Amino acid sequence: MKKRILCLCLFFTAFGLAAQNDAPSWARESREAKEQRMKWWTHDRFGMFIHWGIYALPARHEWVKKVEGISDADYQKYFDNFNPDLYDPREWARKAREAGMKYVVVTTKHHDGFCLFDSKHTDYKSVNTPCGADLIRPLVDAFRAEGLRIGFYYSLIDWHHPHFVIDRVYPNVPSDSVELAKRNEKRDMKVYQRYMKDQLTELLTNYGRIDELFVDFSYPGKNGKGHKDWDSEGLLKLVRSLQPHILVDNRLDLDNTDWGWDFFTPEQFMPQEWPERNGVRVPWETCQTFSGSWGYHRDENSWKSVRQLVVMLVETVSKGGNLLLNVGPTARGDFDARADERLAGLADWMKRNSRSVYGCTQAPAEYEKPHNCLLTFNPETRRLYVHVLEWPFKSLHLKGYEGKIKYAQLLNDASEVRYRTNAKASGHTSETSKAGDLILNLPVDPPDVEMPVIELFLK
Ligand code: GLC
Repeated sequence: MKKRILCLCLFFTAFGLAAQNDAPSWARESREAKEQRMKWWTHDRFGMFIHWGIYALPARHEWVKKVEGISDADYQKYFDNFNPDLYDPREWARKAREAGMKYVVVTTKHHDGFCLFDSKHTDYKSVNTPCGADLIRPLVDAFRAEGLRIGFYYSLIDWHHPHFVIDRVYPNVPSDSVELAKRNEKRDMKVYQRYMKDQLTELLTNYGRIDELFVDFSYPGKNGKGHKDWDSEGLLKLVRSLQPHILVDNRLDLDNTDWGWDFFTPEQFMPQEWPERNGVRVPWETCQTFSGSWGYHRDENSWKSVRQLVVMLVETVSKGGNLLLNVGPTARGDFDARADERLAGLADWMKRNSRSVYGCTQAPAEYEKPHNCLLTFNPETRRLYVHVLEWPFKSLHLKGYEGKIKYAQLLNDASEVRYRTNAKASGHTSETSKAGDLILNLPVDPPDVEMPVIELFLK
């Protein structure tokens, strides 16, 4: 009973208990309702991020326009030549499902302003490139057909819209403030705010149920933009009215409220521990890349190994988070071989070990993490998963676990793992264990998987 209460407490703290008193009326929601809304997401844990756009042609990072200071005229060649003839989103969806991903978040528009969907409010869209099509529609259909949920990424930043006020993240920002003011003279963020609302209305009405919205991003301060510039409150109100169940990230610059975000989004780093806000654990989803770029980058070679990615996924879940892992498809419309290899490796591991990911979260504090291991825990089934980073060749010590376990097995093949207590241990093996410890008797050879998992059935 005590254990159950502890689990419940851990669970509830993840949903921001802070009072919602300051929330506008349309944003008021009970803790239980929010928890219910997020249930599928905290269960599924693993999604695919897709960064795709005309920046796949230069293949030098999705910020190439800014980084290289490319003018609109020079950037136009990527629009004029965008023709992804190998595009088959059914293939993408199959690979995502096989890798164990349960939802997808795709860039409908990125910072360069280019849209992959057919919007009435711009000409700067895939429909007007040589490919001549709305590329989001078939993607949504394909991923749904594979059983994945759908999320949209939408860039708040826009380097194409004539009313987006030029700021510090804009390509070729004039260093001279007079010159900057002159270029901004006719730009009106109110018009741009309307544009965002119109586009989000299209995205959230024309493609059926959308489960996640990833708006990106705010950078308040000098020459930056924050919630006032976007009209974040108005935007979120609209989003929630169109898709009340939707989950929205925390990049609207409303982090100081309790109602302006559903989850936090640490990017390209692993938090030391479960992220908190005002001392309360928050739901979080870390977005990570295979290499150093989100968009397809031909010459970038710092690719993570399959093992690093498996560890990243498990470490994220072990701290109560979700992993959104990015693929940057090529301008031909397929995944490059390096991405395919990583996805296949993940598929291989997930096929036998996904039980230690889905429905799992951080283990209760009473279960100490064994040396060289990560722990995840499923509160429903009451199973604890020991992910062994470095195989200890024969025995694994579990401090203070005596009397807490009723069965143990390797997860990959469901073969029994026997265990003994210190009392029964003989001679040399008892040296490092104390009363109350359990010692797992492991095979000397590690199981042939990227990272072995031991499944402990708790009493
Ligand atoms: C950053 C980058 C962007 C990328 C995003 C993913 O904010 O600006 O290129 O889309 O992170 O989270």
